[in-house]
Amino acid sequence: MSRWAYVNGRFVRHGDAAVHIEDRGYQLADGVYEVWAVFGGKLADSLGHFERLERSLDELRIARPMSRKALELVLREAVRRNRVNDGLVYLQVTRGVARRDHAFPDPQPAPAVVITAKNTDQKGAAAKAAKGVGVITLPESRWGRCDIKTIGLLPNAIAKQAAREQGAMEAWFVDPEGLVTEGASSNAWIVDAEGVLRTRDTSANILRGVTRKSIISLLGEQNIRFEERAFTPDEAKGAREAFITGAGTLVMPVVTVDGEKIGDGAPGPVATRLRALYIEAAQASIT
Ligand SMILES: Cc1ncc(COP(=O)(O)O)c(C=O)c1O
Repeated sequence: MSRWAYVNGRFVRHGDAAVHIEDRGYQLADGVYEVWAVFGGKLADSLGHFERLERSLDELRIARPMSRKALELVLREAVRRNRVNDGLVYLQVTRGVARRDHAFPDPQPAPAVVITAKNTDQKGAAAKAAKGVGVITLPESRWGRCDIKTIGLLPNAIAKQAAREQGAMEAWFVDPEGLVTEGASSNAWIVDAEGVLRTRDTSANILRGVTRKSIISLLGEQNIRFEERAFTPDEAKGAREAFITGAGTLVMPVVTVDGEKIGDGAPGPVATRLRALYIEAAQASIT
């Protein structure tokens, strides 16, 4: 099946899609992105991702390329053209094309927009969730504004590669205070030794995960003690359960941290329940 990409106002064949060599995203990582999960051809947690996109753009003083409504139409068209049923849609907005110079160009160029969409292997993800995944811990190596979802992902890419080389799926960053911030592409959670569900609070240098927020709002109806409170790698290793959340992984149980077994080494009941609840809620809220 042919794949389509949206590049600056038009859909082109994926293989022919190209951006300018002086796009500031390409040269300076001067841009932001968003990823929506797609269920049944529709966008999950749509509003949360739009709100965060607009915040990221505003924080970097990148102009909004089009209205939210127009953008939603293009995203849906990308999903439709690529026949995405269950998968992901990726949006990137950079400051645009300008002669290379670190400071922002004046006058401002038009922001550059790229959108791609793909199906993902649902059966494979479910099988992975049934078994659980491993994470490693690494010293925090990212900049101080991880609340902005920028395309500057080199520390995250290096961390993911280290995880892969150690047979793990994700890397958790640990800040200079010895506390886990988040994963290279997900938020980090544990059910601690006392049975309290914990994840880092958003005043820390983390991305405010849309999935994270949706999970917190689902907790109200569950009988689960919850605190937005940091944890150390040792607390994670002594926890009853651990898991990660994100548009790509949804809720993914973690069964080893730095090679040490969490609990009995199998996905825990809280992670398993939250995965099912989140998927159910996301399917109900799709637009
Ligand atoms: C660093 C980081 N943290 C957390 C997340 C999870 O965010 P969300 O749930 O909005 O996908 C991501 C997702 O890409 C991420 O890159």
